[in-house]
Amino acid sequence: MGKTALISGITGQDGSYLAELLLAKGYTVHGLLRRSSSFNTERIDHIYQGPQHPERTLVLHHADLSDGVALVNLLRETEPDEVYNLGAQSHVRVSFDTPLYTADTTGLGTLRLLEAIRASGVDTRIYQASSSEMFGSTPPPQNEDTPFHPRSPYGCAKVYGYWSTVNYREAYGMFAVNGILFNHESPRRGETFVTRKITRAVARIGAGLQDRLYLGNLDAVRDWGYAPEYVEAMWLMLQRDEPDDYVVATGVPATVRDFLQAAFAAGGLEWERYVRFDPKYERPSEVDALVGDPAKAERLLGWRPRTHWRELAELMVAADREALDAELSGATVRIDR
Ligand code: NAP
Ligand code: GDD
Repeated sequence: MGKTALISGITGQDGSYLAELLLAKGYTVHGLLRRSSSFNTERIDHIYQGPQHPERTLVLHHADLSDGVALVNLLRETEPDEVYNLGAQSHVRVSFDTPLYTADTTGLGTLRLLEAIRASGVDTRIYQASSSEMFGSTPPPQNEDTPFHPRSPYGCAKVYGYWSTVNYREAYGMFAVNGILFNHESPRRGETFVTRKITRAVARIGAGLQDRLYLGNLDAVRDWGYAPEYVEAMWLMLQRDEPDDYVVATGVPATVRDFLQAAFAAGGLEWERYVRFDPKYERPSEVDALVGDPAKAERLLGWRPRTHWRELAELMVAADREALDAELSGATVRIDR
C-alpha cells in the first residue's frame, strides 16, 4: 500500500508540483479545493482524475482553511500519512490591503489545521510552508537561527504559523516541521509576482501585444530558486526520523533589476525602453534583502539547489513565449513543465 497525503494549496504553484512528485512516488493524493466562481484548477488539470476514474490516486475535496470543522472531517475521511499546509493568501503587497483576511487564512489557518489534526485523532506528519519573509529586515545571510523581524501582515501571519507549528511539536509531540523557503519561481508562478510579471511581459512585448511594464522597487535583493526542486525538500523533511525546521534557498543573491535585465535579454529586448516606475507596486514597508544559507538542508536532507536565478529567468521567458505562441495560434497551452 502506498502512502496517503493531504495538500492544502494544491491548486497553487507549489501544490501542483508537489502533487506531481507524490503521485510519481506512488502516493494517493488528496487536495483541498476552495470554492471559486470560476475554474481554479488550471495548474493541476493535466493530472486531474474525475470521480469516474477506476483507480483514482488524486482526489479533490471542497474545503477551506477558514473552516476548522471541514478540516477535521477531511482528515477523518482521508486519514493521511502526511499533510502539507501550502494554502495561504501568499501575496505580500496584497496582505497590506487585506491584513485581517491574510492573518485568518495564512496565520490562523495553520493553527486550525494543527488543531484539526489533534481533534481528528489521525496519526500524521505535517509540513508547514513557512517563509523567508519572516526574516524581514534582519540582514542576510539568513539561516534557521536568524531572528524574525517581519515587515508585512503576510510576514506576521507566517511567524504565527511558524511558532504554532513549533508549539504543537513541543506540546503534543506532533511530527510538525517548518520549511523556511526563500522565493521560488517557475512557469506556473502566479502572474502578479515580480518574476512572472516580468517574463510574461517579455513574451507579450516581443509579440507586439504590450509596450510598457510598470514595476515598483528594483533594488530589492532576493534569492530565487526553482519551485520543482523546492517541493523535493518539503517531502524530504517529512521522511526524517525526527521533526525539525530547515531553510531552503540557493544562497545566491540578485536584485529585481538583475532579473529584469536577464529576462529582457533572453527575449532579445532592452528593458530600459519598456519599463516604467509606478509607486502603486511599492510596499509600505519593504524587505530589502533575503539571501538564505541552506547548509542545514544540504547536510541533513541531502538537498541541493540546481537552478539559479539567471537560468530561471531564461526558462520562464521561454515558457511564456511558448505559451503565448500556443494561445495566439489557438492551440492548447501546455502546463506540464
Ligand atoms: P500560491 O501559488 O499563491 O498558492 C496558494 C494556494 O493556497 C492556492 O492553491 C490557493 O487556492 C490556496 N488558498 C488560498 N487561500 C486559501 C484558503 N482560505 N483555504 C484553502 N486554500 C487557500 O502560493 P505558492 O507560491 O504555491 O506557495 C505555497 C505556500 O508556500 C504558501 O503558503 C506561500 O505563502 C508559501 N511560500 C511561498 C514561497 C514562494 O516563493 N513561492 C516562499 C515561501 C513560502 P486558489 O488557487 O483557489 O487561489
Ligand atoms: N509583485 C511585485 N510586483 N513585486 C515587485 C514589483 C511589482 O510590480 N516591482 C518590484 N517588486 C519587488 C517587491 O517590492 C519585492 O521586493 C520583490 O519585487 C519581490 O516581490 P514578489 O515577487 O511579490 O515576492 P515577495 O518576495 O514579496 O514574496 C514572495 O516570496 C516570499 C518568500 O520570500 C511570495 O511568494 C511570498 O509568498 C513568499 O513567502
